[in-house]
Parts: sequence; structure tokens; C-alpha cells
Amino acid sequence: MTVVVSNRGPYRFTRTASGGFDAHHASGGVSSALRPLLTSGAAGADAAWIAAAHDDDDRAAMVAGEAQAPGIALTLLDHDPALHRLYYDVVSNGTLWFLHHGLFDLVRRPRFDHRFTEAWAAYETVNRSFAKAAAEVASEGDVVLVQDYQLALVPEMLRAERGDLRIVHFSHTPFCGPNSIRVLPDHAALALCGSMSGAIAGFHSARWARSFEASAREILGNDARCRTFVAPLGPDPDELAELAESPAALTAGQELDELVGDRQMIVRSDRVDPSKNIVRGFAAYDLLLAEHRELRERVVFVARLTSSRESLPEYMAYANEVEQAAARVNERWATNDWQPVVVDLRDDYPRTIAALARTDVLLVNPVKDGLNLVAKEGALVNQRDAVLCLSRDAGAWDELHETALPVHPYDLAQTAGALHDALMMPASERASRAARWRELSAARTPRDWLDNQLKAAHSS
Ligand code: F6P
Repeated sequence: MTVVVSNRGPYRFTRTASGGFDAHHASGGVSSALRPLLTSGAAGADAAWIAAAHDDDDRAAMVAGEAQAPGIALTLLDHDPALHRLYYDVVSNGTLWFLHHGLFDLVRRPRFDHRFTEAWAAYETVNRSFAKAAAEVASEGDVVLVQDYQLALVPEMLRAERGDLRIVHFSHTPFCGPNSIRVLPDHAALALCGSMSGAIAGFHSARWARSFEASAREILGNDARCRTFVAPLGPDPDELAELAESPAALTAGQELDELVGDRQMIVRSDRVDPSKNIVRGFAAYDLLLAEHRELRERVVFVARLTSSRESLPEYMAYANEVEQAAARVNERWATNDWQPVVVDLRDDYPRTIAALARTDVLLVNPVKDGLNLVAKEGALVNQRDAVLCLSRDAGAWDELHETALPVHPYDLAQTAGALHDALMMPASERASRAARWRELSAARTPRDWLDNQLKAAHSS
């Protein structure tokens, strides 16, 4: 049997008026990659998935025995909401996410006070409950695939209970380097590196694997034995093709045609997250319009954004900054019949697919990103030989660098230059780059990624 252990499960459940429950696809790359694989039996006939209940409806569905997923033995762990907040908001997203993506303004943050001590204890408690649930579900010698930074302590805790299991930990984020890992309190850095080096640790990019190895040596000493592997995720081409042809995507495409007309189009698609560097993206576009008068009224930048982690003040503040940055560009350049930036916050995947299909330029400029699947999805659905402007600090850079225009995520003039080159590129070069982009983006599927994890587990 294969046991998946991840913060979010395959579905989130909502109560219906009749007292039953509806299952909706849970958000996030981990869930959407693993859900089809596990429900289709690609991980073997027997699969179990352990995840956290994220709200009261999830909890109620679990209690009612209705938190079910076809072909998967699903367990949703019911943590006290206050405990969950400390684990998810304070440690996972407020600390580890910021650390691994290099987002801390170190003069001011982090501050490891009593609240953090309490939150770290909650992180340990929640990780222990995942480990315990996996130990209960797994049979002798089973493979356990632990996903992401929210559950970095699970490998060590699980190994202590069940030495017979084959445990893989896969990070969907970057991993911070040896100087940054020292920012964590010593006990936390030790626990994190100790746990992950006891498992086989997978990453989307060789760069993150190297960072982890260097950090583990920094914290555990030069003899630290790390076993890492690199397995980038790829999009599911069939699912994307089906979605691109769906009535919802086709209608959204027509709306975009009306909005953009004969202008060129730049698209980005991101969660509203400081790591995605959305504000600098708008600032670079502003610079582009300032320096290239001929582009004014000739380009529309559509930002497909979805709100994220709104319980964190940093995320709420960033959402405000994003809104203001877009408004500034519009105030400065808009004319009676042209809005330079269109921010679209609707949580609507077919609409995102339509934007990726219709665009001439795709901007992916994160400060750092474990992979960035959008950079590959764009290639598979785009209809106009779009040019990819891609941050060198996205994991997907490793695979796509030969076809993308590089973006230096902090350099506004350089980013504006990349956007300009992309918009001005001759049709023949666009076509040849787009063909290669499609080829590279289709090279790996979710199935390949899962197989790499299973292979790594069996090599242990
Ligand atoms: O890819 C990193 C990740 O944290 C995933 O674990 C998660 O599915 C996604 O980003 C979205 O984040 P969240 O689950 O916090 O909404």
C-alpha cells in the first residue's frame, strides 16, 4: 500500500442544505497532482491518504463518515482549531514558508518569543498526530509519501514508531541555504534537518536539494548523511486539454477577446503570496509603459490572482499592496478606452486556462518558487506562440531556461526589458520557442513524478 501524508487532502467538504456533504477539489498543487493519481489507482490498488481537516465542515464530514474519496482510504485529522492555527499560520506559513522563500525582513522579523515556543510545540503535536495516523494505517514495509514543509517532522516521528516503513519526504518549496537555516531557533533547525535527513528527501530542483544538503551539514555536522532526489512535477496534458475545450473556458476566452481586442496581452496567474513578487511585476510593467510610449494602449496585463492564507496579517497586507500597485499603473496610464492592468480575483480555474491560452506573454517572476507549475501549464494550452518570461529563481527554470526569457526577480529595469523583448519578438522566433516550450513542459507528467517518489522509496 502507498500512504500519502499531506496537509491538504484530495477534497474539501461542504455541508449541503439537505444535511449531506459535497466534495470539492481541494486547492493547491499537492492535492491536484496526487488526487487523480491515487483515485485512478496509479499508486497501486491500495492507497491511503492522511490530511488535516481544515474547517468545521471537513470535521463534520469526517465524523459523519462522509469524508470519502473514491479508491482511497481517507483520514482527516481533527485538530483543535487553535492548535491548527499555530501549526499552519505561525510555524508553517508565517515562519517556514518565509524562511525557505527568503522573505524575512531580518531587521524586524522573525521574533522567536513565547508565542513561537507555543506554536512550535503545536507544530510538533500536529506532526506527531500525522505520524501516529500513518503508523496505524500502514502495513509492514509500506511506502509513506510525506508532502511538504508543513510536515517536516513526520519522517523522524514515524521512523521512531515504525522502522519497517519506506519513508519519502517531498518538498514543494525551495529549501533555505546554510546561512538562513541558522535563523531558526537551534532546536527547530536541528529537528527539521534531523527529520528530513532520516528520510529520502525529494525536491523539484537540484538547487533546492543542494541547499538542503548544505543546511543539513551546517546544522548536523559534516557527517550528516542526506539522501536526496530531484523529481520535478509536470502538468497532466489530458486534463489540461479537456479543460481548455470546456464550455467554461471557451466562454471565458470570448470574454477575454472582447476585453483585449487587437492589443497584445500579458498574463500572470498566482496565489496572492509575497513569494510570487506580484508588486514588482506591476512596477516593471509601469516602467515598460513609461519608457515605451508606443506600447501605451497597445497592451493589456491580465493578472489572474487567487486570495490565499488570509488569516495571516502579512498576506492581508500584501494583498493590499498588490491592489494599490495595480491601481497606480491604471491611474497613471489608463485612457478612456484602455485599462492597462486588469486584476481578476475570481477563483475560477477554467478562466485561468482561458487566459493562459489567449496570452502573448506569460510573466512568472517569483522571488523564489519550488517549481511553478503555471510556467509549464501555459505551454500546453497556449494558442498564440506566447513567450515565457521566467524568474531564474523558480524551480521550473532548470527545465525551461532554454526557451524562456530570464527574469531577475528584483531588477525592475531588467524585468521591463524582458517584457519588452517578449512583446517585440518576431513571429518566427516566437513559434520556435513556443514549440520547444511545449516539448519541455510535456516531458514530465504527474505520473512520472509519483513514480520517482515510489522508486526512491524502494531504493531505501
Ligand atoms: O506548493 C506549496 C504549497 O504550500 C502546497 O503545500 C499547498 O498545496 C499550496 O502551496 C497552497 O498553499 P495552502 O495549502 O497554504 O493554501
